[in-house]
Amino acid sequence: MPPAAREHLLTNATADRYLRTVTDGAARVAARIAGTDRPFTGITPEHLALEVATADLDRPLGDAAAALDELNDVYLRDAVYFHHPRYLAHLNCPVVIPALLGETVLSAVNSSLDTWDQSAGGTLIEQRLIDWTARRAGLGPLADGVFTSGGSQSNLQALLLAREEALAASGPPRAETLPRLRVLTSAAGHFSVQKSAKLLGLAPDAVVTVEVDADRRMRPAALDRAFERCRRDGLTVMAVVATAGTTDFGSIDPLPEIARRCAAAGVWLHVDAAYGCGLLASRTRRHLLDGIERADSVTVDYHKSFFQPVSSSALLVRDGRALRHATYHADYLNPERTVAERIPNQVNKSLQTTRRFDALKLWMTLRVMGADAIGELFDEVVDRAAAAWSLLSEDPRFEVVTRSQLSTVVFRYLPTGPGRAYADEANLHARAALAASGDAVVAGTTVDGRHFLKFTLLNPETTIDDIAAVVELVAEHADRYVERAIGPMPACTAS
Ligand SMILES: Cc1ncc(COP(=O)(O)O)c(C=O)c1O
Repeated sequence: MPPAAREHLLTNATADRYLRTVTDGAARVAARIAGTDRPFTGITPEHLALEVATADLDRPLGDAAAALDELNDVYLRDAVYFHHPRYLAHLNCPVVIPALLGETVLSAVNSSLDTWDQSAGGTLIEQRLIDWTARRAGLGPLADGVFTSGGSQSNLQALLLAREEALAASGPPRAETLPRLRVLTSAAGHFSVQKSAKLLGLAPDAVVTVEVDADRRMRPAALDRAFERCRRDGLTVMAVVATAGTTDFGSIDPLPEIARRCAAAGVWLHVDAAYGCGLLASRTRRHLLDGIERADSVTVDYHKSFFQPVSSSALLVRDGRALRHATYHADYLNPERTVAERIPNQVNKSLQTTRRFDALKLWMTLRVMGADAIGELFDEVVDRAAAAWSLLSEDPRFEVVTRSQLSTVVFRYLPTGPGRAYADEANLHARAALAASGDAVVAGTTVDGRHFLKFTLLNPETTIDDIAAVVELVAEHADRYVERAIGPMPACTAS
């Protein structure tokens, strides 16, 4: 007989069952993680869709062991494994075990961090972590913030606050000012800035792209010109978004110069440190974030460079009072009187209502291993990226773009002779062929309209030998493509 429905609920009567089930699941994941010999199997969406479609969702399997067996076929066997040293693609990190312990606890207790009466200590722990991070960023005594679902949401909320501050400061009615608001960000900034502008009802051309230098850092002189153009056109700059760790190039905009200009113009400075925030824990590279302390708001993605499981992100603000722009009161949840009663309801600061206790993962991380250990892991991948850059820049078969301040390497294979005309296609092919083989997963991007490949290194287990091996595979796949296109390649020369 299958157990009755209520036996599946975690209650005081079923704690044993919970322990057995979760332990069994964790054991299978541990075995899978330990036995992974490739970051990906290369399965196609069509093949996997067939497996997923065979699960009859109206006929439950009845027990967890059977569901785990099935899960193997629909997910675990073909998942993309970020812990594998040859996963080199996007901003996904391997995760630290103390955070996984936190994840287990938070999902079982299932606190919701919208109100104190649904979380108690969870609210206080989140607040401590916000204070801890804001102190590391140097945001000052009035700083506050809230955990979010990710960098995109943090950026959205930052721009919401900036918009409201700009509208409050402007003379004309809201409806007249809104289409005239502008956001300045670099050409290498994250696309969530554009999405946020759309969500916030700004004009279609509200995001003004500021030129970058050869290292993909915002040019202060170009920012001056953008300010000047907006002034001349009667537009109001509501925010400058500086990026501390651009997604492709790992470049950090010159924060002190940008902060100085924002202060002079009275403009909100948001620093998107979704990627670069790991430097807050580094004992050797913290200085790369100098100037962040002058930001009005900061995005930090612990699920990128603090080795936390998704989701774990926060928005920090220098003056906590700005968070009032996200505050609404509901009689059933957070009535206005609770403010006077000093009841800490985080929903007053958040775009979300029901919200996971993601902060617990970072708490467990800091309590078990500490920030220095996180910083060491991040420093290690930054060092590895520098070594990878040297390897590629000394290899005449490759072109590298810029030396990252963080842990990306953007490069492309350059076929010789007439094969050069196929460089774009050869690099696109090499990326796809690598993923299809499952030997490695690398990312791609474009630079000045040309196709490039990208390593994002976030796994300290990735050795320079792993990187060298993947580089050789890229060359082989690219050569094979060119050979098919034009015939055998001439031998490579060091010219
Ligand atoms: C610089 C930067 N900002 C924001 C984001 C968005 O973060 P999330 O994916 O957590 O929404 C990313 C994601 O890669 C990023 O690189």
